[in-house]
Amino acid sequence: MKQLAPILAVVNLLFLVHGYDVSSSSAVGDPGMKRDGLRVAFEAWNFCNEVGLEAPHMGSPRAADCFDVSTKCSKTHRKKLSNCTSGYSLVHKVSDSDNKLGIGKRKSGIISEPALQNPDLYAVEKELYLGSLCQVSDKPNPWSFWMVMLKNGNYDTKSGLCPQNGKKIPPFNQQGKFPCFDTGCMNQPVLNHGKTELLGDGYTMRGWFNGTYELEADLGDGFDGISYYEVVWEKKVGGGGWVFKHKLKTSPKYPWLMLYLRADATRGFSGGYHYDTRGMLKTLPESPNFKVRLTLDIKQGGGPKSQFYLLDIGSCWKNNGEPCDGDVTTDVTRYSEMIINPKTSVWCNPETLQNCPPYHTFRNGTRVHRTENRRFPYGAYHIYCAPGNAEQLELPVGTCDAFSNPQAQEILQLLPHPVWGEFGYPTRMGDGWVGDPRTWELDVGALSSSLYFYQDPGTTPARRIWTSVDVGTEIFIDQGIAEWHLSDFDVLIT
Ligand SMILES: *[C@@H]1O[C@H](CO)[C@@H](O)[C@H](O)[C@H]1NC(C)=O
Ligand SMILES: *[C@@H]1O[C@H](CO)[C@@H](O)[C@H](O)[C@H]1NC(C)=O
Ligand SMILES: *[C@@H]1O[C@H](CO)[C@@H](O)[C@H](O)[C@H]1NC(C)=O
Repeated sequence: MKQLAPILAVVNLLFLVHGYDVSSSSAVGDPGMKRDGLRVAFEAWNFCNEVGLEAPHMGSPRAADCFDVSTKCSKTHRKKLSNCTSGYSLVHKVSDSDNKLGIGKRKSGIISEPALQNPDLYAVEKELYLGSLCQVSDKPNPWSFWMVMLKNGNYDTKSGLCPQNGKKIPPFNQQGKFPCFDTGCMNQPVLNHGKTELLGDGYTMRGWFNGTYELEADLGDGFDGISYYEVVWEKKVGGGGWVFKHKLKTSPKYPWLMLYLRADATRGFSGGYHYDTRGMLKTLPESPNFKVRLTLDIKQGGGPKSQFYLLDIGSCWKNNGEPCDGDVTTDVTRYSEMIINPKTSVWCNPETLQNCPPYHTFRNGTRVHRTENRRFPYGAYHIYCAPGNAEQLELPVGTCDAFSNPQAQEILQLLPHPVWGEFGYPTRMGDGWVGDPRTWELDVGALSSSLYFYQDPGTTPARRIWTSVDVGTEIFIDQGIAEWHLSDFDVLIT
């Protein structure tokens, strides 16, 4: 027992140094993004979270960069190659031909016959395959990768590509409601990939994804007037953590783009999907018992309509509280996010009650109805919108866009406000914004259990299990350049 005491003291010290509560465990496969052997993937979505049509020569818009760091460099390597100067080398798990897989390309036992000519199905099967190549054994579940998600908000209503609240609808003419320059506006992007490599110093690892939606653009002319996205990841072997450096730029043809880094469920439906996915959440966080830690350094905001989400959480449950089962006519995607761009307008106020949730619940459990002008914290909400298939909504109400998800959705967007302070969230507009890099420890579990989400009267409250936790921006129909660094990302079960 005597010998044990100093050891325990050291263990405690380690926990203190890392600031971890001894009673919490991580829900992600790579806690704090510290693992040398990185697992990262890429996915691109059209307006309703599908592929629609692949971009020429790009394959299905799913790719991965996964490797382990080996300390075994052969003698010939050591002599000839800079990537062995330190004795380290990267052993990649995903080949270029795997990343180029796309419709028409067979892969037996991986790509099914129906998927071969169907871009939406092909992407699903390719993601599962890439997930299997990257998979890391772990307890309680194996995990696959962080996910870089890119989405094009153009919607050609004449394309017939998107359902309405999960129900198939014929093409229709739009009344200028959605951006679309012409036929083909829902295209997938060019994807360039710089596979992670060791730089000349022998220790720094770096890799990247980048590209544009302007398929015809001549990049020799720079990015003037065209869209651009980029994610670069960097870390030194054996020290620090990965830093993910993002850039997103919209253009006149692509004014609505989204770029996030997601921790998705390792199995089942992640937020916004209606099919099986692969991800990083080896344990699914459930309200109220989890926290999210991350460091965010925003370099450029992206303009007044860059809805930067300090955190976006996504899940799925039916209006009767049952979990989702893939039936898109009754499944409902649920999102909540805090927008930290201080230029964001406050759309919920006593004159626009349709933009506010019916009530606000304080952390002590006190519930305040939105008509109680003196007590309801209007400034804490940007907008609330209800699922388009909800049957007993309290009026007035706005319903969410019926086309931009494979199924109906419900969204609750928050703004920095003193009421969120007790959950560790920003309390003032401008907190954590450009020039104010911070490490956040957000009590997302407690906050998300107090938020309003619609449910049919008299039904058992849904278990709030979150299948996606994301950080990034959505530039909503505007011209802008956003740039940010994300590191230390962790989800802690408390
Ligand atoms: C080192 O880099 C070279 C060229 O960049 C590459 O061909 C080689 O496979 C790499 N070696 C290892 C062990 O990763
Ligand atoms: C992508 O990144 C690489 C490496 O930083 C760069 O050379 C290239 O110009 C970038 N842009 C595009 C569109 O590929
Ligand atoms: C709960 O918190 C709110 C806001 O701080 C406060 O107005 C209210 O009096 C509190 N209720 C109780 C029962 O403590």
